Amino acid sequence: MSINTEMSVRVAAITQVADQVRRLRFERVDGQPLPVFSGGAHVVVSMRDGAILRRNPYSLMSSPADSSGYEISVLAVEKSRGGSTFLHHKLKVGDTLAISQPINLFPIDQRGRKHILMAGGIGITPFMAMMDQLAREDRSFELHYAVRTRSHGAYWRELQARYGARRVHVYCDAEQLFIPTGEILGHQPLGTHLYVCGPAGMIKGVLGSAAQLGWPRQNLHSEEFLAPPPGKVFKAVLTRSGKTITVHSHQSILEAVEAAGVEAPYLCRGGACGQCETAVVGCDGALEHHDIYLEPEDKASGKKIMICVSRISGSEIRLDL
Ligand SMILES: Cc1cc2nc3c(=O)[nH]c(=O)nc-3n(C[C@H](O)[C@H](O)[C@H](O)COP(=O)(O)OP(=O)(O)OC[C@H]3O[C@@H](n4cnc5c(N)ncnc54)[C@H](O)[C@@H]3O)c2cc1C
Ligand code: FES
Repeated sequence: MSINTEMSVRVAAITQVADQVRRLRFERVDGQPLPVFSGGAHVVVSMRDGAILRRNPYSLMSSPADSSGYEISVLAVEKSRGGSTFLHHKLKVGDTLAISQPINLFPIDQRGRKHILMAGGIGITPFMAMMDQLAREDRSFELHYAVRTRSHGAYWRELQARYGARRVHVYCDAEQLFIPTGEILGHQPLGTHLYVCGPAGMIKGVLGSAAQLGWPRQNLHSEEFLAPPPGKVFKAVLTRSGKTITVHSHQSILEAVEAAGVEAPYLCRGGACGQCETAVVGCDGALEHHDIYLEPEDKASGKKIMICVSRISGSEIRLDL
């Protein structure tokens, strides 16, 4: 069973903020305030797209102090499996949707004496809410924001106007301006925490530089907007429910399980939180792990799988579900 109760919201506004990025504002259908959240939180948006129910996570970018509405920003993904296309091309102002309660897997570490935020592209979204919170709490922070071109980058002008160019640094690939990671990480006071959100390569590079420079592991925080690769069709035998289901190539095991009317727990749907961990009873091929939650030895054991993102290379998996 999902531990996440959903709320019914109406689309109150849609704004095109940059090439391929649109901001959506949700307000509760019953007019009540939305639950309080902290910077870095996301919600899972459920989209009824014809016969298909799509569920994608999106970071909350509005002020955590504003409970009258939640805002998210969505990038139009070229090879969308459907969710971002739905939000860009089918959703209209006035439509209703269900969203989860906010979940925070990328919170500000309250022990930090200074906070360095590094964003790549759409990875800016959790930092919008985090900066609002940090500024209200009068804490020391800096944003380093990399965009492909200035017109692709959502919000950089607004952020510089709000927090000043001393705290908001913008780098642009098209102008050969890149984040000088080594220089920034090499000169920070003790107790500084680092947060990275962006493409997988950027996160790996930044965390690798920090590790080389001797940053303590507990001061490093990251969130990846995981988009795992599709694969071939296979069967999943759910041993407890006595059902055999087909997992299509552009569907996660979790989606196939839900489509069959079996409830499975989830929080992030992005391979990070651990909530959907499922015991593997048997598999006739290799497990293709795409999560960032399981330890390498758990992945190698073949006994566990995160069904929101991982697949198999064989034709049948037996799951304790
Ligand atoms: C914590 C978090 C926060 C995010 N915040 C933002 C944000 O603020 N803005 C933004 O634009 N994007 C964000 N994303 C990415 C977003 O959730 C979507 O991935 C993105 O919008 C593209 O969605 P899509 O449906 O078009 O395509 P895809 O991401 O390609 O597909 C997503 C769908 O594929 C399914 N799936 C997962 N793994 C597999 C697999 N191995 N095989 C087949 N199907 C699979 C999933 O269940 C999901 O429904 C976030 C992701 C995470 C994890
Ligand atoms: S739901 Fe979070 S790891 Fe699968």
